[in-house]
Amino acid sequence: MWWKPRPIRGLATQFPGSGPESPDEWIRCAEADSRFREVHARFAGAGVMNWLTEREKALHFGIAAFSSGSGIVVELGTFEGGAAMFLAAGVARRGQGRLVSVDPHFGGPPWLGMATHQRTSAKFLAHAEACGVREWIDVRIGDSSAVAAVWPAEPIDVVFIDGDHSYLGALRDFECWAPKVRPGGWILIDDADDTALPELLELIEEVKTISGVAYVGLVDGVAVFRRGETPPQRLLADVSALTQRRGSIRPWDMSPIHEMTLPASYRKSCSQSHEPGEADAYQLAFLVKSQPGMYGYTPAAGERANRLIRAVAIDRGDGPAIEIDPRTPQPCKVIFCAVDEVATCSSWLTPGGLMLTLNPANPTHESSIGIRRTMLDAGLEGCGWVGAFHWGVRRPFLLSAEAVIEYTKTAYCPPKEIPQRA
Ligand SMILES: C[S@@+](CC[C@H](N)C(=O)[O-])C[C@H]1O[C@@H](n2cnc3c(N)ncnc32)[C@H](O)[C@@H]1O
Repeated sequence: MWWKPRPIRGLATQFPGSGPESPDEWIRCAEADSRFREVHARFAGAGVMNWLTEREKALHFGIAAFSSGSGIVVELGTFEGGAAMFLAAGVARRGQGRLVSVDPHFGGPPWLGMATHQRTSAKFLAHAEACGVREWIDVRIGDSSAVAAVWPAEPIDVVFIDGDHSYLGALRDFECWAPKVRPGGWILIDDADDTALPELLELIEEVKTISGVAYVGLVDGVAVFRRGETPPQRLLADVSALTQRRGSIRPWDMSPIHEMTLPASYRKSCSQSHEPGEADAYQLAFLVKSQPGMYGYTPAAGERANRLIRAVAIDRGDGPAIEIDPRTPQPCKVIFCAVDEVATCSSWLTPGGLMLTLNPANPTHESSIGIRRTMLDAGLEGCGWVGAFHWGVRRPFLLSAEAVIEYTKTAYCPPKEIPQRA
């Protein structure tokens, strides 16, 4: 066993009131259910490496089977499928919905004692067959935040967070997924009783103070939260305020870039028009960490691309703007191209370089998700979009807010212009 839960004394294990929507009730219903007993027996014979207590098994089955909603359940961090078998069996018992099970399956972080070469996907799938739940599982092999980035506008009933157990890892999972949970839905965080994971416990204590979720209690190691009516933006603002109070920078949060005072050389030469997102696209291109290379645009990207890229190149003054000729491609730190050129052009980006593209149609959520997919398929980190503007960054991911602040501090701004994070 690579980690041994150490229970914390004094935390609630019983829930006040046992309506149909309470962990005690789900557990009671699960224990009385023949499908639960069946999956329990199959699980015991399947040899799944796991750390589940009996109450946790019943909780997972019960919440997936008997809580309200349409059975859209997401698990972040699957490993060999311990909790997944019970969550999926619960969805099967409900007869609708699915378990979306997310894990890169290359092993957990070394500090959890898991070898990074460990590939658990084959075992997971074999266990799902053995437990008779395979058809109820939508397997996503990938990082939880990458899967969140392409999640359709489908409300989630239950999310179970059990992936990266570091403070920032669990926070990122909460921030990516909690807003997607429907009001009245559930957020479970595992290992909430494990004193060997102090950062995770600290995060759970902080989540208890957020207005968009209510802490319900603890079922052995699983902290149960219920999503309130608070809109997603408010929930995200609370998370942001929380981390600012703590003095943490979330490397995936781009908002410090927008708050940043730009240096004197920032002239925004292209700003005759103010299309939504143009300033953001310009600013990101301006702040890309300098690499050998140029600022490129393709003819198909159009006049706006030409104008924006030329303006950035003038203002940065550290490389020429060029029209990219696909027959003689040159390395570029920023490329603005058409959507159908993203795959080809991404190979010409220097590490840390920025890809920009415009959504040609009237942007909809679906078309924006489609472009995000194109960016991810091209090996880019899909950082975001505003209006019709989309951007992605070539790994290694140098354009984190942290890197941008550091870079701007040393390369451009006098110290007084750098916003201080509380
Ligand atoms: C504690 S195990 C999960 C245990 C599992 N839920 C169970 O019930 O047996 C943690 C898992 O999280 C996965 N993981 C780590 N970082 C992740 C990330 N960023 N996204 C998704 N999964 C991640 C690891 O690969 C590992 O399999």
